[in-house]
Amino acid sequence: MLMDIIKARHSIRKYTKEQIRRADLEKILEAGNYAPNAGGGQRSMLVAVHNQELTTHLGTMNLARFDRTNLAGSYVSKEQPSTIDDPTIQNGFYGAPTVVCVFCQNNFLFKTADAFCMMENIVLQATELGIASCIISRGYETFDSDEGRRLMEKWDVPEGYTCQGFVILGYIDGALPQSKPRKPGRIKIVE
Ligand SMILES: Cc1cc2nc3c(=O)[nH]c(=O)nc-3n(C[C@H](O)[C@H](O)[C@H](O)COP(=O)(O)O)c2cc1C
Repeated sequence: MLMDIIKARHSIRKYTKEQIRRADLEKILEAGNYAPNAGGGQRSMLVAVHNQELTTHLGTMNLARFDRTNLAGSYVSKEQPSTIDDPTIQNGFYGAPTVVCVFCQNNFLFKTADAFCMMENIVLQATELGIASCIISRGYETFDSDEGRRLMEKWDVPEGYTCQGFVILGYIDGALPQSKPRKPGRIKIVE
């Protein structure tokens, strides 16, 4: 059932070294490709890095641009600590072996919305396949360097596109976390 998958999905930040199968990755990317998109323009594109070494390197580039100011008092997860919770974490992609980079047309009003629709489909499909995931931000910053621009060129990302974010993928190391209790009062039905 879809609701079971929705509730079984958690942001995972502890990964084993096991790489995910290419056939599973292809299915996950297909789910992203069928996401709703503003105006039906299909403007976003996905580049999956199915390579542990390069994913780790990108994760280091991602964390290098993490701005720690204004984090006072925030906490994300005790069971799956994030870079906000634990300043000793070295890799913004937490050692996951695969990352999907979501690129969108820079001058398009709904670029961010389109990207996150894709990411939601991706994490749900991954969950159904038993693959752990986490959405990661700082897409623009990660590629905002000579090295980042070279990688985008190598991957044939069109001119005028920027990265809106990432989904990391792999297998969980350890136990599944619990969902945080839902805050009350966030849902209303008006008739
Ligand atoms: C827009 C967005 C950006 C996020 N960026 C990050 C990130 O950079 N690093 C990270 O560890 N988690 C990131 N997350 C994951 C959230 O921290 C996570 O969804 C939230 O804590 C709720 O936990 P859950 O996904 O397990 O339900 C992001 C999630 C969203 C929706």
